[in-house]
Amino acid sequence: MQLPLLVLGHPLLRRVATPLTARQLLSPAIQTLIDDMIETMVAVSGAGLAAPQVGQSLRLCVAQVRENPRYPGMPALPLRVWVNPIITVLGETRRVVMYEGCLSVPGLRGAVSRPATIRVDYWDREGRPQRDDFDGPLAAVAQHECDHLDGRLFVDRADTNTLTFLDEYEQFVPHEDRVRVLDVRG
Ligand code: NI
Repeated sequence: MQLPLLVLGHPLLRRVATPLTARQLLSPAIQTLIDDMIETMVAVSGAGLAAPQVGQSLRLCVAQVRENPRYPGMPALPLRVWVNPIITVLGETRRVVMYEGCLSVPGLRGAVSRPATIRVDYWDREGRPQRDDFDGPLAAVAQHECDHLDGRLFVDRADTNTLTFLDEYEQFVPHEDRVRVLDVRG
């Protein structure tokens, strides 16, 4: 079932979400929530969706990136279900600067700079411990989704000078500026 999305201004989006126990995770209610979140993400062509965006203050998000000509240099990410994810920054020498958008901030994009090399430790939907390492744009996707679990939205982190509505983004932001990975060493 496709779920309605909360948008900027709803206080639940600003809450620190609660971890799931293994027992909760395996319950029919949470397994259905996961299915519904995946269905919703696909239906609205999102790259990711966090449980707070559908009104559940739980540490759970889903993500999936298909190769998209609007994001040159953005690799594909097979479907992920990140339960109780913990992000570790693996290096401070590379930054990913990407125009992010969010289903909870419809129509807006803005450039956010984040560490480019990270690790995500999490449980999959069966509660098995898993680990993903990212180096590049997918690190931004993972951090964006995990930010939702701490009540943070990309507009909090965006360079406000770069905020743009979608039509203007398509019109004025050159493709080479949409996703950049910068070496900040030395
Ligand atoms: Ni978002």
